[in-house]
Amino acid sequence: MAKAPGSIRDSICGYLQLIGGEASLNEISRAVRARMGATSPSSVRSYLNINVGKTFERTSRGRYKLKTNSNDFGDANGHKLNLDPVATIGKAKLYHSDCFEWLAAEPASSIHACVTDPPYGLVEYSETEQQKLRTGKGGVWRIPPSFDGHQRAPLPRFTVLDDEDRIQLYAFFKRLGMLLNRVLVPGGNVVVASNPLLAHIVGSAMTEGGLELRGGIIRLVMTMRGGDRPKNAHKEFHDVSVMPRSMFEPWVILRRPVEGRVQDNLRRHKTGGFRRLSAERPFGDVIRSRPTPKLEREIAAHPSLKPQAFLRQIVRAALPLGEGTILDPFAGSGSTLAAANSIGYASVGIESDPKYIKVATKAIAKLSALREVDPV
Ligand SMILES: C[S@@+](CC[C@H](N)C(=O)[O-])C[C@H]1O[C@@H](n2cnc3c(N)ncnc32)[C@H](O)[C@@H]1O
Repeated sequence: MAKAPGSIRDSICGYLQLIGGEASLNEISRAVRARMGATSPSSVRSYLNINVGKTFERTSRGRYKLKTNSNDFGDANGHKLNLDPVATIGKAKLYHSDCFEWLAAEPASSIHACVTDPPYGLVEYSETEQQKLRTGKGGVWRIPPSFDGHQRAPLPRFTVLDDEDRIQLYAFFKRLGMLLNRVLVPGGNVVVASNPLLAHIVGSAMTEGGLELRGGIIRLVMTMRGGDRPKNAHKEFHDVSVMPRSMFEPWVILRRPVEGRVQDNLRRHKTGGFRRLSAERPFGDVIRSRPTPKLEREIAAHPSLKPQAFLRQIVRAALPLGEGTILDPFAGSGSTLAAANSIGYASVGIESDPKYIKVATKAIAKLSALREVDPV
């Protein structure tokens, strides 16, 4: 079918703008296909090649970026860039901003580690979906079934992601990877909360953004995903679960590549490894955990609140010498910052939703003051 004039150009430019940097012909063709249906890679390639010098730059063989504004990580969401913290709580600084913009404005090599729990449905933290969550009506949030009579918190439905959403997700994490790679010092760790359906996208997109994949952490926790029988055929297929009942949450580990040997990097930048639990015990990549306790949920009303018992372990380990600054670009209710405060680390958090900024401003001190954090 003939494409509308200019539609290939709009698709390519839209995708490259979203990425905020360069992409391969394959990636660009995939994005155009997801937006416009079947489109031959050769028409994408010829469009790119005809317009090299005018609209695009060829950065190396088969890789392109927008000629102008390609490094302009401008604010796609209409958020205002706010470079002054809205609150300083202990050693934590909280900024109300879009994190992509904030990261683009932050000096290079100024952060030592990033521990974060990003939005995955991309739409689930949009104003419309947050309104639906708050009124309990429709949208991508669902109340998971009750297995034991206890009321559950709503979860976003990652199953609603289609091809275009996955491409957007890839672009989102690639751009995040590129920006983190610039603000981190060499050897700086990045630990990102994920889920079994999307961890591969996070790992490959952030690697494409320049970071180095270093494995993962398994948070052993009973989640509400999977384990249910086929929809509307429960009785007929009584002995079948569509997906395994998920009992872990994967956290992807990446880092900015080290400069020279690890020992040199440690001396120079204080990064390039993980802090041991003790002289005998290295930090391990399987951590027993539990759903966030009620006490913490009462302090910090956020639908994706992570527990202090778990966060304190990964935040502590993320700075190998216990020195430097931890960043959480999707701070939510400030749980990562609270964990950093409780350990005595400096931290910086960015959050775009004013309602969660209010929650975080109050919650950080209370969460970090908790002594009993229910370790397993
Ligand atoms: C999964 S939640 C993190 C919750 C956090 N783990 C906690 O324990 O409170 C992701 C957060 O990122 C925020 N967010 C989404 N897009 C953002 C952006 N571009 N810049 C900054 N924050 C953003 C959302 O409002 C949401 O609060």
